[in-house]
Amino acid sequence: MSGATPELRPAGLDDPAELEQRDPGGMLGEVAGAGQQTRVALRAAQAAPLVGPLPEVVVVAGMGGSGIAGDVLAALAFASSAVPVLAVKGDRLPAFVGPGTLLVAVSYSGNTAETVTAVEQGLAAGARLVAVTSGGALAELASSRGAPLVTIEGGRMPRAALWSLVVPVCSAAEAAGVLPPLTDQICAAADTLDGEAAALDPKVPTSENPAKQAALRLLDRLPVVWGSGQLGAVAATRFRTQCNENAKISVVSGPLPEVNHNDVMGLEGGLGPDRDLVLLRDEPGEHDRDVRRIEAVLEAVGVGDPVVRTSGEGPDLARLARLTAFADFTSTYLGIARGVDPTPIHTLDQVKSALSTQA
Ligand code: F6R
Repeated sequence: MSGATPELRPAGLDDPAELEQRDPGGMLGEVAGAGQQTRVALRAAQAAPLVGPLPEVVVVAGMGGSGIAGDVLAALAFASSAVPVLAVKGDRLPAFVGPGTLLVAVSYSGNTAETVTAVEQGLAAGARLVAVTSGGALAELASSRGAPLVTIEGGRMPRAALWSLVVPVCSAAEAAGVLPPLTDQICAAADTLDGEAAALDPKVPTSENPAKQAALRLLDRLPVVWGSGQLGAVAATRFRTQCNENAKISVVSGPLPEVNHNDVMGLEGGLGPDRDLVLLRDEPGEHDRDVRRIEAVLEAVGVGDPVVRTSGEGPDLARLARLTAFADFTSTYLGIARGVDPTPIHTLDQVKSALSTQA
């Protein structure tokens, strides 16, 4: 495959026929269906035998579009959990993993090498496994060990299954007493996702659609994405990875206020014509000083008008849903505006298949 930049084409984001033609894999439809996906995932999680003892620690093993479910759980647990929650992205688990560990393995395909290898290590160390997958080697491993398995709907791109993955991962922690009851906030998240889809979906013209506006603004620019609070930080990561995979572009992202101590230096002298700043704010999760910190950093880098999306009110998962819906719609419109098909991920597949043929 050539590394040539795809041809930039006129956006055409308000023409339904052109949108359909430019999104042959139907990513916009997947994004719009996130609310219903959340309700289906809740039923799957409720049907699984997840109840278990309070662990000493929770480790979530997963990669990419699946692994971010671990970041979501860690963000939810931050303010309330008595035990640490760690998201691990790679083959190796930390040395502390043992019989007191709840190991939640999350892989949409069930065949991601890093995740399966980490699970084998965790099982050998005596961890209690819960698997979240649509099938593959992970489902087989969990079944052969009699471990609880949440089987989720297959047939999607993993990143288009965010809520299918987040709901059972968080439910596993709830069922072990790590998080308080979640059903109400999962239902609230589903309703929020429906509401965001109604506000951001293709039928809403660019003049009234903040996701289309953001996509056009970011066209041909490097997005620098900062998120505030635990949930805003996860949303910033999601915005980056969704732009990577749906729009096929590089993105810089980081959490506030940490970016004030490093990333800000990359903006010394201003954004210039080739970059733009996106702020994903979870105001209820911000520290009292964060408002002033954000004002100070925008003033220091001379950015008067960043793209801003706020999480609004409501429970954690509903606020997160508002930010991830913006990331999902914006990145998909950006891919379409760039003239790339949002769905396929050829380079990622190429790397995976090159490694699967090696010993
Ligand atoms: C693809 C995507 C990827 C995958 C990752 C791990 O849409 O989001 O980041 O999630 O390659 O694969 P799974 O999710 O099958 O374990």
